Amino acid sequence: MRTKPFVTGVAVTKPIPPEDYLASLPVVRHLRAMGELPFRKNVTFLVGENGVGKSTLVEAIAVQAGFNAEGGSVNFNFSTHDSHSELWRYLTLSRGTTRNTDGFFLRAESFYNVASNIDELDRHGGGTRMLIESYGGTSLHRQSHGESFLSLVEHRFGGHGLYILDEPEAALSPMKQMTLMCLMRALVDEASQFIISTHSPMLMTFPGAEIYELSDAGIRSVRAQDTEHFRLMKQFLNAPEQMLRYLELEE
Ligand SMILES: Nc1ncnc2c1ncn2[C@@H]1O[C@H](COP(=O)(O)OP(=O)(O)OP(=O)(O)O)[C@@H](O)[C@H]1O
Ligand SMILES: [Mg+2]
Repeated sequence: MRTKPFVTGVAVTKPIPPEDYLASLPVVRHLRAMGELPFRKNVTFLVGENGVGKSTLVEAIAVQAGFNAEGGSVNFNFSTHDSHSELWRYLTLSRGTTRNTDGFFLRAESFYNVASNIDELDRHGGGTRMLIESYGGTSLHRQSHGESFLSLVEHRFGGHGLYILDEPEAALSPMKQMTLMCLMRALVDEASQFIISTHSPMLMTFPGAEIYELSDAGIRSVRAQDTEHFRLMKQFLNAPEQMLRYLELEE
């Protein structure tokens, strides 16, 4: 059963002090000018060049949605020296009619800390059930980066959830990106919503997803095939020699 998205949009609603770097980040300015960026589908991708502001935006959405800024479920409250921005303070989320009953926020940079926090809670927890059991039973530190990431999605993500992922492909081979897409399909069919920042042309093709391409020029809804990432990757893979020649890299 699918439902409407739990989070139906995000808007910059509060004034940002002009001395704050966020006030001059083009994507934040565009978001402010748009009024609201709507989340119309169960899967929304934010794509765009390095440094354009994808992580800044997904983190702010996650914090406004009640997640720990560094990742995890809403019950995680660890904090490390990893930086996260204050954009959440200036945002308002629009909510759909139903509330999600599950959720997870995953930052590529702090997955290691999420894994440590689960081990830590289990060492000190007095509960009858080890937390790690809901993550597949093996410490995420004793699995490879990709294995532990897929364990998390497969075992911990339970459906009817809001899942906010920052570059989930960072851990995954092309084959396992397809596995992730299959797991996402099952979760979307169980009424989940994903908001994902990605550089992966494969993930972007997820059927029925909406893709927002962020750039200094604005935020626009595009087809996967029309994103710069997809076109460049396709061009490269179609004729690597040609691109290598262009880059003056051939021997
Ligand atoms: N504390 C800070 N002060 C000033 N600028 C910052 C600060 N933190 C981040 N930025 C800038 O904010 C911009 C957006 O960064 P962000 O991490 O959101 O980019 P991104 O789109 O996620 O990039 P990537 O694809 O590399 O992950 C970058 O240009 C970055 O340099
Ligand atoms: Mg990022």
